[in-house]
Order: sequence, then C-alpha cells, then structure tokens
Amino acid sequence: MVEVLVTGGAGFIGSNFVRYALRSHDDWHVTTLDKLTYAGRRENLHDVIDHPRHTFVHDDIGNAAVSAPLVEQSEIVVHFAAETHVDRSIQSAGEFIRTDVEGTFVLLEAARRAARLRRFVQISTDEVYGSVPAGASRETDELKPRNPYAASKAGADRLAYSYWATYNVPVIITRASNNYGPYQFPEKVIPLFVTNAIDDIPVPLYGDGKNVRDWLHVEDHCSALDLLIDAGTSGEVYNVGGGNEVMNVDLTNRILSTLGKPSTLIKPVADRPGHDRRYALDTTKLRGIGWAPRMPFERGLTDTIEWYRTNDWWWRPIKEADPAFRSYYEAQYGRR
Ligand code: NAD
Ligand code: DAU
Repeated sequence: MVEVLVTGGAGFIGSNFVRYALRSHDDWHVTTLDKLTYAGRRENLHDVIDHPRHTFVHDDIGNAAVSAPLVEQSEIVVHFAAETHVDRSIQSAGEFIRTDVEGTFVLLEAARRAARLRRFVQISTDEVYGSVPAGASRETDELKPRNPYAASKAGADRLAYSYWATYNVPVIITRASNNYGPYQFPEKVIPLFVTNAIDDIPVPLYGDGKNVRDWLHVEDHCSALDLLIDAGTSGEVYNVGGGNEVMNVDLTNRILSTLGKPSTLIKPVADRPGHDRRYALDTTKLRGIGWAPRMPFERGLTDTIEWYRTNDWWWRPIKEADPAFRSYYEAQYGRR
C-alpha cells in the first residue's frame, strides 16, 4: 500500500480530495490528520471515514508528537490544513500564523527525516500574488500578499520551497484559485449566499460588488493534484486556475436567479479592508503537462447550488446551532 497523509482532510477541499483519492487509487491507504477546527467536520467525510483504506487522526499538525511520525511513515503528503478565511484573518491573525506557518514548519521538519517520502504537496493559493489589475499571474511573479491570511500562506509557500532547496525534500507548491463545490463551509461566498437565499435571508455583497474571482471546481483541483503528485517536478510551483473570471455581483445574480429568488435580496455592505480587486492565473505550465479543467462554470455552479439545496442536513446545523459561527456573524454584522 502507498501511504498517503492528507492534512486538513476534514475540510472542504481536503475531504473532496480524500474521496477522490480513495476512488482513484486502489493501492493507496489514506490517513487524514485534522484538528477539527470550526471548519473541519467528520460529516465532510461521512461516506469514507470508515473506508477500509482510510484512517482518521484527530490532532493538530503543530503537535509534532503525533504529526511527525505520520509524515515519517508516508510516501506522499498533501498538506491542506490551514486557517483559510480572509475575514477571520483580518479580525484575528494569530491562529493563521500558528497553523499556516508554524504548523507547516513542523511537518517540513518531519519531512526531512521521512525516508520513503517521494512527494510533499504544499497547498498554497493564488492570493499570494496579491491583487492583479490586469493580465494573469505566472509562477515566477513577485509575491505581494495583502491580507494576514495571504501573507501567512506566502510564508508557508516559501518555507516549503526552502526545504526543497536546502534539504532536498520533494516539495511541489500549488497555487489554486477560488474553489467551489460541495462541503464548503458556509462562511465562503458561494455557500453563504446559496444557503442565505434558500432561506430568503439577504446576501451581504461587499463594496461595489465588482471584485473578480477565478472559479475552479473542487474536482478539477483534485485532478490537478493527482496529476502533479507523479508528474510534478520537485522545487516547482504550479498555478491551478479554473479560467472562470466572474465579478461578485454577476455571481450573486446567477445564484439568485438559479434559485428563483429576487435580486432585492442583495444587501450592499461595507467593503472588506484591503479587499483584493481581482485574481487571475496563467495556467500554461500545468496545461503543458496534460491538465485542463473539465467542469464548465455554468454546470458546476448549478450542480453546486443543487447540492446545497438537497443537503441541508449538512449546513443547517452549522448555521443554526454552532455558537462559534453565530458569534462570528454577529461580529461581522456589528462591523457593518
Ligand atoms: P477549510 O477551512 O475548509 O479546511 C481547513 C481544514 O484544516 C479543516 O478541516 C480544519 O479543521 C483543518 N485544520 C485547521 N487547522 C489545523 C491544524 N492546526 N491542524 C490540523 N488540521 C487543521 O479550507 P479549504 O478551503 O478546504 O482549504 C484547504 C487548503 O487549500 C488551505 O491550505 C487553503 O489555503 C488552500 N486553498 C483554498 C482555496 C479555496 O478556494 N478554498 C483556494 C486555494 C487554496
Ligand atoms: O483565491 C483563493 C482563496 O479563495 C483561498 O485561498 C481562500 O482560502 C478562500 O477563502 C478564498 O478567498 P476569498 O476571499 O476570495 O473568498 P471568499 O469566499 O471569502 O470571498 C469571495 C469574494 O466574495 C471576495 O471578493 C469577497 C466577496 N464576499 C465574500 C463574503 C464572505 C462578499 O461580497 N460577501 C461575503 O459575505
């Protein structure tokens, strides 16, 4: 069996990747290591958590007593675990530094000792490039992160690179654009707006609504990672972009019209401080080794809306019962 460690595997992208990996590789044994923060949930893995080739470990990547032996026994590490929400990082950045930077450091130190390790995938983000007024970011572009989340991810991104350059750890770094799909925590714009609209609750659109994000279906992200584990070159960075640039106001109108809801549900609210205007990725490098996104945005968005519509068992408990989520949104609305 190929031993694969997935950190943050109970989160949005991680849980989709665990499912993808078990489905695609009969010879993989996948260990999920997850702290189960507010964003990590066993429910995200409900259909695979007891799979015979899956083991779930509930712990912090920063706890070397647990995380280091798991890295040391692995052939492949896919490191998703992170604090991920920009608004939370603006309110309080400490946990982002601890998990995204220091947690990554703990894993990389263990990776130096991992005799069988052949791939360490550092999941970075397009946010490390900062706002892109025109054109598209290439892997060689300067990093200009502009919020504490993006800066902590940029730190981890370069730390991982340094462990390849210095210690020959087989690191690759991936920088993906905005993912969407099932099991995304409903603080992020698509699940937040979809689940609010289902309940006829206003959707809070930041600023003038003209910020642009490039949307990548989570399955297309998983297929890129799967390819890169074997076809990537250590020490290299790969952009993973969906090629679907959409203005927030257009995205919002599409969500509302798909659900048959009126545009009067849009509630313009104060802008996010330092709100990046636009992200865009040049994906020539990844396409050059045989990857292309398969999911057209129209279909991906409709399917995703339908998933949230028919799986309210998954999101209602978060929005209605989780005190951390409720107080976070009270704080957000208080700010506006
Ligand atoms: P998420 O917030 O849904 O999940 C993060 C997971 O990490 C959760 O399960 C959480 O419990 C776990 N975690 C947090 N701190 C931990 C710790 N100290 N130890 C162990 N586990 C911990 O995030 P996501 O959207 O799935 O993002 C996954 C990764 O992909 C992150 O590294 C993020 O920066 C990156 N990324 C996300 C996007 C996106 O659009 N969502 C785009 C590009 C890159
Ligand atoms: O680009 C990749 C990044 O995408 C990832 O690295 C992050 O982990 C992920 O959270 C995401 O960051 P964004 O800040 O782009 O995602 P978010 O869903 O928070 O916001 C998307 C856009 O929608 C952004 O322009 C802000 C806007 N927005 C967001 C929320 C939550 C609103 O207008 N209203 C909202 O309530």
